Amino acid sequence: MTKTCLVTGCAGFIGSHLTQALLDTGHSVVGVDNFASGYEHNMEGFIGHTGFTFYKRSIVEEGLLEELKQIHPDLDVVFQLAAVVSVPYSVEHPDLTMKVNFEANRVMLDSAKELGFSSFVFAGSAAEYGNENRLPVKEEYAQDAEQLSPYGVAKYRSSAYIEESGYGCSLRFFNIFGPRQDPTSQYSGVISRFVDFGLAGKNMVIFGDGEQTRDFLYVSDVVTAYLIAAGLDEHGRGPLTGIYNVGTGVGRSVRDLATVVAGLTSAPEVIDFKPERAGDIRHSRADVSRISGKGFRAQVSFEDGLARTVDWAIKSKS
Ligand SMILES: NC(=O)c1ccc[n+]([C@@H]2O[C@H](COP(=O)([O-])OP(=O)(O)OC[C@H]3O[C@@H](n4cnc5c(N)ncnc54)[C@H](O)[C@@H]3O)[C@@H](O)[C@H]2O)c1
Repeated sequence: MTKTCLVTGCAGFIGSHLTQALLDTGHSVVGVDNFASGYEHNMEGFIGHTGFTFYKRSIVEEGLLEELKQIHPDLDVVFQLAAVVSVPYSVEHPDLTMKVNFEANRVMLDSAKELGFSSFVFAGSAAEYGNENRLPVKEEYAQDAEQLSPYGVAKYRSSAYIEESGYGCSLRFFNIFGPRQDPTSQYSGVISRFVDFGLAGKNMVIFGDGEQTRDFLYVSDVVTAYLIAAGLDEHGRGPLTGIYNVGTGVGRSVRDLATVVAGLTSAPEVIDFKPERAGDIRHSRADVSRISGKGFRAQVSFEDGLARTVDWAIKSKS
């Protein structure tokens, strides 16, 4: 059954992939973005699609969902991706971060519930775990008191609010990568930077010894998780409620990453090591048993995902 879905943050990295996938599978999309960190060119693939309607609006605007529902009575699913995405920016702008990443989300969730939407899916984050060192990280490890930034606080409180409400779900993403990712992203910006170094024939630069690990997930697998969460996958196990980690469950080292990217770009094999950055966590890896129980499994290997990302970077530079 096809649905009409709201995607907030549709001009962003993940939102543009989700929008494209929804349209490709016959759903209609109402997209909202204020271009705070997204770009019009990210929407090139679908801006003229007959099933897509775009609104340059902010999710903090009062009554936004009610207004969109009046214009699009079939609107039935909310994918809430719009957010202040930079941790350092959130430290400089804590009030704005709470307004966008928590308050707007709380209001949107309550409205969606009131209006009878079939599902509400929020973009949570591995940042909600702070400096957690028990691995793999389980959903119940996140605590309000452990947060390291306003970004973490707002994402954590949104997830907790969703869980308490018993309506909608929060997908806690680990390190997502793929085409269109912003190189300044704290999550997997390192991948975009390595690809840029590699294509420019420059040495990779690693902060620390390179043995720090992250749970890197390719963006098309994130789309799969979203479809499951909203009950739009072929098995229709959703809509989900509660909190779910979304990752591969496998940690890959930054040194490993540099080696694979160097092989794909013919960059020099020499790596420049620089002093470790203060505050960087050593290891991060998701316990994915909860989302696996709903049928999710990462399909794209680290190597294939990196090859696709490098291909895209080559094409977008030519
Ligand atoms: N990329 C990752 O690895 C990762 C990991 C964990 C969580 N997340 C979360 O996933 C979501 C998408 O992240 P992304 O990596 O695609 O980032 P992104 O910056 O590419 O996308 C965010 C989009 O939201 C838009 N936006 C910001 N504030 C808005 C507002 N007030 N109203 C309307 N639009 C607004 C931005 O312009 C941008 O297009 C975010 O909520 C982020 O916190 C991402």
